[in-house]
Amino acid sequence: MKPLVYLTRRIPEQGINILRKQGYKLAINPLDKPVARATILREIANADALLCMLSDQIDREVIDAGRNLKVISTYAVGVDNIDVICASKKGIIVTNTPGVLTEATAEVTWALLFACARRVTEADRYVRAGRFKVWGPTLLLGRLIGGKTLGIIGAGRIGQSVGRKARAFGMKVLYFNRSKEPEFEKQTSARKTSLKQLLRKSDFITLHLPLTRDTKHFIKLKEFRMMKQTAFFINVARGPIVREADLAYALKHNIIAGAGLDVYENEPKVHPGLLKLDNVTLLPHLGSATVESRTRMAEIAAENIVAVLQGRKPLFRVT
Ligand code: DGY
Repeated sequence: MKPLVYLTRRIPEQGINILRKQGYKLAINPLDKPVARATILREIANADALLCMLSDQIDREVIDAGRNLKVISTYAVGVDNIDVICASKKGIIVTNTPGVLTEATAEVTWALLFACARRVTEADRYVRAGRFKVWGPTLLLGRLIGGKTLGIIGAGRIGQSVGRKARAFGMKVLYFNRSKEPEFEKQTSARKTSLKQLLRKSDFITLHLPLTRDTKHFIKLKEFRMMKQTAFFINVARGPIVREADLAYALKHNIIAGAGLDVYENEPKVHPGLLKLDNVTLLPHLGSATVESRTRMAEIAAENIVAVLQGRKPLFRVT
């Protein structure tokens, strides 16, 4: 019997072809939107492998329903949506797709940073609304990036890539991380600091922590109050690391100058307070959304499945 692979969303063809070449039976969500939980519970019942998205909650109930499941391959680097402990107890291998989205996510961080500093999205709305009547000496003034201090919370792959790009702008780089990163320090002259120091001294603060029980609401009003009133805050990691209501409050009351967000606490819902503000740029979780990254992610997610089903070591094993 050929293994059955259930894909909760259609991924780029390159990945699907890798699975087809093996002759696997494929059950692919035909809709271009997330599947209902009831559908996942039904479809997973006979599946040998699950290829899921970061928006699917793969909890104990889903894992229990996958009676033949051998591998959960997520089309993402983050695994906060998967009960990896439960999977591991049941001998189910969890895999992800790191590395190939590092640059894309670092670049989107910079896109948000520029958008905030130079008020790009606000200015775009201004022009579209027909409000651009004449050039003005104080029209939509932003802030310089060059020579400023960049604070990186979480100096993993993505955080470090963001830091390396800061060199091009002559920025001073501070980072908060569990471990010291000597190679990163050599490349960027970055300095490891306490969170408090980083929040107090940085002009741009960018978040790159994974979401775990320990990092939920890591940044809240207390932390925003430690930042400079001219600081900009960027989050491309995971929404629940930040208490979103506090961020909306901090932006509304000019406790900080602005923010750029790619992720949300209750994704895809956005705190209504944020939607009303001009000093925040909002993206719909586009971190890895480049043709190059998403294609490689599809190939890796598929190769991870093939490896596990063939009894080999997958390219990227989480548990
Ligand atoms: C991931 O893969 O975890 C990223 O959030 C995708 O953008």
